[in-house]
Amino acid sequence: MYCNNGIVRKVAHTTLDIKRRGLNMTIPNLNKVYPRSNDYQTIYLKNVITRDNIEVGDYTIYNDFYNDPRDFEKNNVLYQYPINNDQLIIGKFCSIACKAKFLMTSGNHTMKSLSTYTFPIFGEEWDEALKPKDAWDNKGDIIIGNDVWIGYDAIIMSGVKIGDGAIVGTRAVVTNDVSPYTIVGGVPAKVIKKRFSDNVILKLLKIKWWNWSYEKIQANIKYIQSGNINKLV
Ligand SMILES: CC(C)(COP(=O)(O)OP(=O)(O)OC[C@H]1O[C@@H](n2cnc3c(N)ncnc32)[C@H](O)[C@@H]1OP(=O)(O)O)[C@@H](O)C(=O)NCCC(=O)NCCS
Repeated sequence: MYCNNGIVRKVAHTTLDIKRRGLNMTIPNLNKVYPRSNDYQTIYLKNVITRDNIEVGDYTIYNDFYNDPRDFEKNNVLYQYPINNDQLIIGKFCSIACKAKFLMTSGNHTMKSLSTYTFPIFGEEWDEALKPKDAWDNKGDIIIGNDVWIGYDAIIMSGVKIGDGAIVGTRAVVTNDVSPYTIVGGVPAKVIKKRFSDNVILKLLKIKWWNWSYEKIQANIKYIQSGNINKLV
């Protein structure tokens, strides 16, 4: 099936599949760009991704009320040049708020040099300069887990890994890894608190509900939403 931007996407759930199985359920079409009728500010992010070095999981949404949310790659994934091959990987069921940004490797002028000036990328004028690939300190990929909520205008720096279920507060600058189910905020981002007791976090990380079938999530959604882990079926 083809999305708006012409990218071929695998159909995970379709109404047709469900009818075939005789179930009376409306299954979301994961190939839609806009999951909600008449809402053009919120998208299923994976369906607008064109770069090979960005991967986004099912159901993850991005909302933008300043710019066209479909321009996420241009407006939100900054300094990601193919030459570095650094990856942005985002899991399933994440909520990414307006203006959240991912600052990739090429934003880090190398500090091994005596100067941070970008001589290497102006090789036409400075032919003795380093190769462009060495112009930056490569801090690595950004990896966001599943069910992560990234608040308005937060910035995630290159090399950072954010665990499943974490929350990044509005306007945070995240410079270090964030453990699962941990809330961080501030500049630089520090731990505000854990979302649940260690026991509940362990259970959630074990069950990984985001990998369940649509039907199973649907059957458990009232327990997921009410926070009652012991009732999950
Ligand atoms: C981080 C957040 C989830 C915390 O929510 P909460 O648990 O209700 O937090 P509280 O208001 O009880 O504050 C707890 C502490 O964290 C601090 N804090 C809250 N949000 C913060 C933020 N964004 N940055 C830094 N510190 C923050 C508070 O000052 C407070 O500190 P204190 O205990 O020293 O007084 C929330 O404040 C936030 O930023 N949400 C994101 C909202 C957003 O961007 N939405 C976009 C639309 S999806």
